[in-house]
Amino acid sequence: MLYDAIKPLLFTFDAERVHEETSGLMAIAAPIPGAEKILSLITGSGGAGLSKTVFGVNFPNPVGLAAGFDKDGKLINILPGLGFGFLEIGSVTLEPQPGNPKPRLFRLVEQGAVINRLGFNSEGARSVALRLSMSPRPSVPLGINLGLNKGTDAKDAPKRYAQTFKLLAKHGDYFVINVSSPNTPGLRDLQKSKDLSDILNEVQDANSLKKPVLVKLSPDLSDEDLSACMETANKVSQGVVVSNTTLSRDAVPDQYKSEAGGLSGRPLKARATELLRKVRSMTKLPLIGVGGIATPEDAKERLAAGADLVQLYSGLVYGGPSTIKKITRGLN
Ligand SMILES: Cc1cc2nc3c(=O)[nH]c(=O)nc-3n(C[C@H](O)[C@H](O)[C@H](O)COP(=O)(O)O)c2cc1C
Repeated sequence: MLYDAIKPLLFTFDAERVHEETSGLMAIAAPIPGAEKILSLITGSGGAGLSKTVFGVNFPNPVGLAAGFDKDGKLINILPGLGFGFLEIGSVTLEPQPGNPKPRLFRLVEQGAVINRLGFNSEGARSVALRLSMSPRPSVPLGINLGLNKGTDAKDAPKRYAQTFKLLAKHGDYFVINVSSPNTPGLRDLQKSKDLSDILNEVQDANSLKKPVLVKLSPDLSDEDLSACMETANKVSQGVVVSNTTLSRDAVPDQYKSEAGGLSGRPLKARATELLRKVRSMTKLPLIGVGGIATPEDAKERLAAGADLVQLYSGLVYGGPSTIKKITRGLN
């Protein structure tokens, strides 16, 4: 209720600035003993009795934070207080980079959507690895999503993903190879079968700790490319994340149609659910469903469509801090 009251005010400020300010406050609170617990008490009950084991990892509940919210892993010791069953940090790139010029994050309030073209702003894998090595292990499983620096040559992609993976391998419970962000030129082309297979093979060669390695797909893949991707994923990965943001501008008001970037939130829901169903029919691998999930019904629908776990980001922007527990209570 409090969030509903302050939302109109919050939404008068630039979206990225609000994200930075709220993340900054949470990062300050995170090291305070009991902070996660206090956040949990404020946001109420939810999530009990929903634990499950997926790719060998035990999740206290199946509702996680999608990549992009905590790019550098600064909030891993506080965000579980919102009720998440797991967190996925990143995308982390090998070298630090600032991302695209601002403004690069937009709310489409009436549509319950977000457009972002952040372009992998990342502190880089060494810095994130150092932070994770100095932080207590989070109270829920941690996924680490790996991206690629802007301007990386496609032929160097396997080596770079593997280097990034090696730096972070011991800190994550699972890893996601992100070849589907629309904001790094050429990245999505790496979903082509040969490139994807080279990347996954090189990462798996470096995977002496046998961590689950997943692939995150774009909702804009053609059926042909999807089949090729899934053939590769079935051979060399432990799961698939469906899906990243879309370049589609259906149902987007004219004012935002020409705003470059990936669209997420409510307008992505049907497309992401349909893709998940397709992917489920092509694989027995564990699947993480993401895209437009904001309510218990959305989460139930995605799990029924074949997801083993679900994630959200945009739903949190519009629903506020109580969103996750509302969903887990509903799943109960
Ligand atoms: C601001 C923003 C930044 C994002 N950054 C990343 C990212 O770095 N890596 C990634 O794999 N996905 C990223 N995503 C995509 C989300 O993880 C998710 O796949 C997508 O937003 C759909 O879920 P949603 O509708 O619940 O937001 C980002 C999304 C948003 C809104």
